[in-house]
Amino acid sequence: MKNDIEKVYYSEEMIQNRVRELGQELKTEYAGKKPLLVGVLKGSFIFLADLARALDIHCEIEFIAVSSYGNGTETSGEVKMTKAIGDVIRDRHVIVVEDILDTGLTLDYLKKYLLSMNPASLKICTFLDKPSRRKVQISADYVGFECIDAFYVGYGLDYAGEYRNLPYIGSLKPAIYS
Ligand code: XMP
Ligand code: MG
Repeated sequence: MKNDIEKVYYSEEMIQNRVRELGQELKTEYAGKKPLLVGVLKGSFIFLADLARALDIHCEIEFIAVSSYGNGTETSGEVKMTKAIGDVIRDRHVIVVEDILDTGLTLDYLKKYLLSMNPASLKICTFLDKPSRRKVQISADYVGFECIDAFYVGYGLDYAGEYRNLPYIGSLKPAIYS
């Protein structure tokens, strides 16, 4: 796996330090509110697991699944919900947890869907934010790192379903795509 990586952008240590900071930030904001973390599958599962432990206050966890990517590295532009969520959002302080905010189409769609279920509040926490690629106007409330336009794998992010289990975030050698 390691041999397929061209460049490491965020090392395991950088990631762990930043997640701890985010956890502290959320802890201050949400203490006493028992937030509901909603992880967007599959990409967010590792970030969510680390964030939830760094948060260290009472919280609950749910998952929702959407797909827009297919197997390539370019978004299809069409967002499909493949796992919806029951009536658990109402009156809750919801934090949507995402791996990466890219064109914004996924979170724009999800935000509208979740807001229609009347949460007490709704915030977005994304580990990576690629603002240069935005197609709709949306921003995250909590961001791990603002990143440049590259295709990333690791720490939950995949290429064709693989590399999610790398503990750091990097880019792939061009040969892997061909
Ligand atoms: P949008 O464009 O809707 O994209 O904001 C959000 C989803 O697109 C995927 N995505 C990536 N996946 N490396 C990945 O493995 C990337 O660099 C990347 N950029 C976007 C991701 O699933 C995210 O939830
Ligand atoms: Mg994703």
